[in-house]
Amino acid sequence: MGKITKQQLKLHEQTEELLWGSDKKLTPEQVAFCLEHWDPRALAGKQVARNQAYFTPLPLAIDAGKYIGGDGRQVVDIGAGIGRLAYAVLCANWWDAGRVKVTAVEINPEYVQVGRHLLPEVAWVQGDLYDLHLWQSLPRFDEAVSNPPFGQVLTDSDTGWIGYHGPAGLTVAAIGLRVARLGITLILPQTQTPYRYSGRRPGENICTTNHMRYLETFMAQRPALQWHHSSIDTEDETYKSGWRGASPVVELVSLNDPDAEHVPLRQHPHPSLARPLYSLALTG
Ligand SMILES: C[S@@+](CC[C@H](N)C(=O)[O-])C[C@H]1O[C@@H](n2cnc3c(N)ncnc32)[C@H](O)[C@@H]1O
Repeated sequence: MGKITKQQLKLHEQTEELLWGSDKKLTPEQVAFCLEHWDPRALAGKQVARNQAYFTPLPLAIDAGKYIGGDGRQVVDIGAGIGRLAYAVLCANWWDAGRVKVTAVEINPEYVQVGRHLLPEVAWVQGDLYDLHLWQSLPRFDEAVSNPPFGQVLTDSDTGWIGYHGPAGLTVAAIGLRVARLGITLILPQTQTPYRYSGRRPGENICTTNHMRYLETFMAQRPALQWHHSSIDTEDETYKSGWRGASPVVELVSLNDPDAEHVPLRQHPHPSLARPLYSLALTG
């Protein structure tokens, strides 16, 4: 894991001052500044490594958000961090902000506290994404979005209900397919997708056949599964340089399985939300 630099720490401290230094409501520019510069590596302990908390580079999150929402959809961000993807979904759906609703599920209480402050219009849920009871206590979603942990599944919950054992990325994909009607759009390591799109020259064949065993199993269990890769080349420097403390090669993919068996969820309405005004203020 790359260490936080002095400059990054200074910017993080500015976000802390904005977040907790006064009771004043943050401006849209301040919200964007905090999402960009609040850095989990500034926290005590090994929280980033433990929860595989490599936040999505904000430009990549913003572009990924454009693939989500519309039609007043209920969206869940799985493993939401402080809400970069949730924010991106809201930004992309600003024209329909009264109807598109985002729920964020995150295990780390400190991230949830920051996320709640930055994005109060998001329904924040602190809990373990591998826990069936958590999903049964939430409403039915239309779409899921995630930049999941990429390594091993780390949890005390019983994961048998998910119907897949493999790396955390594909396990979250399997969860998304079970909790969201239209499937999940997520960032996966290239090794967990049947494509090599990012980093290739235009026109090159991107489909691969020599898959890792865990990917073969995932696909064999879901014969009707549809994969759509985005047109985002995540190896572009604009995105790639924004991973802090990691340099994964990833793809943005949308998965839909018409045969997916959805977890039966309790229905309850979302609170009605004020229309927020977003703007993106990237610095540095
Ligand atoms: C790769 S980070 C992505 C964060 C955020 N979605 C983003 O795009 O910036 C993965 C996130 O999943 C969270 N996470 C890891 N294990 C989890 C679990 N069992 N339940 C809920 N969240 C978890 C981490 O704390 C971290 O915030």
